[in-house]
Amino acid sequence: MTDSPSHGAARARGGRYGQDLFEPEHPQEAERIDAGALVYDPFTTRRLQALGAGRGWRCLEVGAGTGTVARWLLEEAGAEEVVALDRDTGALTALAGPRLRVVAADLTDESLRPGRFDLIHARFVLMHLPERRRLISRLAGWLNPGGWLVLGDAVELPDLLDTSSAYRRTMDAMWQALRTTIGTDTSSVSAYPHFLRAEGLQNVAAELFCPPLVAGSPLARFWSETWSRMRPALEATGRVDTDVVEEALVYLSSSRLAELGPGMAMAWGQRS
Ligand SMILES: C[S@@+](CC[C@H](N)C(=O)[O-])C[C@H]1O[C@@H](n2cnc3c(N)ncnc32)[C@H](O)[C@@H]1O
Repeated sequence: MTDSPSHGAARARGGRYGQDLFEPEHPQEAERIDAGALVYDPFTTRRLQALGAGRGWRCLEVGAGTGTVARWLLEEAGAEEVVALDRDTGALTALAGPRLRVVAADLTDESLRPGRFDLIHARFVLMHLPERRRLISRLAGWLNPGGWLVLGDAVELPDLLDTSSAYRRTMDAMWQALRTTIGTDTSSVSAYPHFLRAEGLQNVAAELFCPPLVAGSPLARFWSETWSRMRPALEATGRVDTDVVEEALVYLSSSRLAELGPGMAMAWGQRS
């Protein structure tokens, strides 16, 4: 179960989420994560609800971000205990309480033993970690009998007829820059159901959401903030220059915007 050579290359350069991109101390980082959370929380919570998340459950929210899902599990679903784990817990500490434990830890730390859970959920986390395949094994190993592992990560169905628009070139530059800087890779997201099955999980299934990309919406703001923050890395790919990124940003906030934007695939499986 090895990581691909490109993952190894990213790691060799030492690039990590939160260090080389998306530093938590950036004044807009919590806002950027929240813009994404606002869009995806309804899909995520609907699926967690359908899987039965609720009373009596011990839940692990991996890479909890600003804690919107952890809070939902606690307050809406009525979980018995929620562990919100992140390498940066700045936005989570205020949520800590008797039933919500905040753990500052790096998921890739092999000595990490957070306990056993009825639900483990990770959204937009594994795609950024080159060790994702190994991490899926470890997460599956932390499930109680009957427990669910639920993984959500980004996918894109690009318009293959468009190879030259500023939007397309900037989006492609973003995926390339994420890959070379911190090892982000979404190419195996469609394989998550197979990975979950390979871990011996049952009742495996998956679904896909591509929320509408509308100018002025939280999702358009999320991409706009992401591209603005990544400008030097985008230009370093050689795919775009300042003018192209600027044109793409203007397009994102204009009424001309007409794209099937990136979405999220969720895959889940249950320990027997
Ligand atoms: C894109 S954000 C997603 C946040 C949240 N899951 C959501 O969907 O709103 C990725 C989160 O994973 C955390 N993260 C990244 N690498 C991590 C690691 N190695 N260990 C623990 N958390 C990590 C980041 O600090 C950040 O909060």
